[in-house]
Amino acid sequence: MPSSIPHTLPLGGAESLLKERMRAMLAEARERTLRLVAPVAPDALERVHSKLMSPLVWDLGHIAAFEDLWLCCRTGGLEPLRPELMAVYDAAETPRSGRGNIPFLHHGEALDYLDAVRDRALDVLDRSNLARDGDSVWQMVLQHEHQHNETMVQCMLLAEPGTVVQPRPARTPITLERTPSMVRIEAGPFLMGDGGEGFAYDNERPRHELHLPAYEIDRMPVTNGAYAAFMEDGGYARPELWTDEGWAWRRSAGAERPLFWAGVGRERRFERQERLDPNMPVMHVSWFEADAFARWAGKRLPSEAEWEKAAAWAPGTDRPRQFPWGDAPAAHTLANLDLHAFGPLPVGALPRGESGYGVLGLIGDAWEWTAGDFGPYPGFRAYPYREYSEVFFGGGYRVLRGGSWATRPSVARNTFRNWDLPERRQILSGFRCARDA
Ligand code: AVJ
Ligand code: FE
Repeated sequence: MPSSIPHTLPLGGAESLLKERMRAMLAEARERTLRLVAPVAPDALERVHSKLMSPLVWDLGHIAAFEDLWLCCRTGGLEPLRPELMAVYDAAETPRSGRGNIPFLHHGEALDYLDAVRDRALDVLDRSNLARDGDSVWQMVLQHEHQHNETMVQCMLLAEPGTVVQPRPARTPITLERTPSMVRIEAGPFLMGDGGEGFAYDNERPRHELHLPAYEIDRMPVTNGAYAAFMEDGGYARPELWTDEGWAWRRSAGAERPLFWAGVGRERRFERQERLDPNMPVMHVSWFEADAFARWAGKRLPSEAEWEKAAAWAPGTDRPRQFPWGDAPAAHTLANLDLHAFGPLPVGALPRGESGYGVLGLIGDAWEWTAGDFGPYPGFRAYPYREYSEVFFGGGYRVLRGGSWATRPSVARNTFRNWDLPERRQILSGFRCARDA
């Protein structure tokens, strides 16, 4: 929880406290969004930096349009503030590849639109009753803005060096003596998915019991150093390590190293080239690369269920944890634009983030690819809109779990499911391996 949230009970009791907290959370989300774009020049905000990503101003307008739709219109009963913009900012109607050519708002206009929608949304909040109606739709809008912050970071990482210079401290090297090892998880049942108490996306529900055979999972994410060993052993030249689809991708994409690796022992982070740190989690690899590494290591990618059991369960419990370390969204392992200096921490750097099974680094540095395709849990029901999850089921998307250094804490929970195509690596993706025990 951000420290700006008031602890004292204002006059008016619980209902007005809920509203006060919601106002603070909305303000905090907006402050982060604006801080993220502040160092970027207006023309760079409007430019297409990669055909995989929207121009950054599109995300700004989209955040506003989503808030207007769900808070002002659907909740508050108002007409859209700018009806003509609703299609422009509808992600389903306007795929990313076409977003350079649509009449989206320019920089200043987008900022004004964000402000104007927010003013209306706060009026709706004043006349709402959160104690009676719950805050789900408000949480969804918050998490939507948070998720787009990470989307914007992806775009910024892809921009020409020099375009985005985020003010950030130099990283202090931390050397850790940690031997890679695996954790054994005995066969047995566990509860997978969200239990329905707070806000969660439709694809995280319903909670259901699964029985997994015994397996082993890496205690820590795969590091740059381990990945370099795979490369030195000819990982990118041995088709037998890849699936057919993966090998075809590797050849057509000309992939020979993770996306931002540059030459020997160097990587690009935004505007700078830096020495590659062997203790950092490997990042910006495709599912195909992760899968080939796992085969090379004599292992495989974990299933989603294996990942979630290792993160949320503990021997001798009957209730899953919300976060690997417990139920409090502690800031100590999570993405924090100030603390994490726009990058991950070395694997194993935060022992307090350990899960009940003693697994480290599950949330807060790199997303982790899992083996399976994105699909519904048994008993899935789409809400509040089909386009969040359902339209992606069966589309060949793979699931990523955990959360990266750019993921806001609200979204970084054990049950959260992220997804992308197996060839994508502009996302902040890493992985760990597993094997049958
Ligand atoms: C869950 C990250 C795959 O960016 O497509 C943002 C999140 N959905 N706006 C995406 C999302 C609608 C989604 N991912
Ligand atoms: Fe969106």
